[in-house]
Amino acid sequence: MKKQNISNKILNWYDNNKRDLPWRKKVSKNQRQYFTLVSEFMLQQTQVKTVIPYFNNFISKIPNLNRLSKVRDSKLMKCWEGLGYYSRARNLKKTAKIIIDEFQGDLPSNEEDLKSLPGIGEYTSRAIMAIVFNKKIIPLDGNVERVIKRIFNLKKNKEISKENLYKKKNFFGENNRASDYAQAIMEIGALICKPLDPLCNKCPIYKNCESFKKKDFDIVSINKFNKQKFFEASIFKNKYKKYFFLKNQKFNFLKEMPIFPMKEITKLKYENHIGKKINIKISNMDMRIALKKTKISPKFKNGFLIGLNELSSWTLPSFTKKILNTVKRT
Ligand code: ADE
Repeated sequence: MKKQNISNKILNWYDNNKRDLPWRKKVSKNQRQYFTLVSEFMLQQTQVKTVIPYFNNFISKIPNLNRLSKVRDSKLMKCWEGLGYYSRARNLKKTAKIIIDEFQGDLPSNEEDLKSLPGIGEYTSRAIMAIVFNKKIIPLDGNVERVIKRIFNLKKNKEISKENLYKKKNFFGENNRASDYAQAIMEIGALICKPLDPLCNKCPIYKNCESFKKKDFDIVSINKFNKQKFFEASIFKNKYKKYFFLKNQKFNFLKEMPIFPMKEITKLKYENHIGKKINIKISNMDMRIALKKTKISPKFKNGFLIGLNELSSWTLPSFTKKILNTVKRT
């Protein structure tokens, strides 16, 4: 594959076909950081076309990082209302505050510091590194993953691991437009290299695409739910029929939501539990949960009791609901 050719084709295509998205406007260095931060947080769980009006409104009401770091929570929530996943908004403000207080108002330009900020994980840190800092780094979302797998027709488990896909950055070629390049690959994934019917006749690099040559567009993914983990959940109900919960700090998802106290156990111990067990797939885990009823109130500083009639005012993780439905019946 001639690297220079491919990257030129991709960048030319991008220059002529990219969508006019508000966070791609030409702005100052500081605004580029702010626009990227806000748009990437919004795009974490929401589609581009939904995000556009929210982004415009957000930027008009909260125009820069400094203002965001001090914004009233009620105003912040109003700007986010309807986008869902509100922890993104809370994390965005926390991140803005940390950048102002600890990084002199500039986004850190390394992945490790970026990932230490609330709400910034692997994908967002890589997107920021590429888009803001023009680093040759592939932010691997579903669209980009599909494009890379198709170009190289990657099928085997070890070929399609994230680590291997990250290594394909060499097809960036020799240019100093890594920021545009990363967004161009996102754009090809979104507009052309569609999951079911890729529009190869519009693709700038179909001649370089192994999947096109083989007429094989199937995408293989590694089964994400391959991490089987075993837990014991402690169920305590007091005499007023209130259940004991903790605010979730244990798992990296559904933070702060009520969960039963959970302890990871071995498969062997799990097999010895009697009574109903619960299987649930969540995040990238295949959770197997054994239930243990306890008559003694668990000792946790941050625990609290909730009655069944009060539960409707709480947002519960699906595994907490599943456990509750099981214990209510026994
Ligand atoms: N999805 C995530 N980040 C994006 C971006 N910067 N442009 C388009 N789609 C995206």
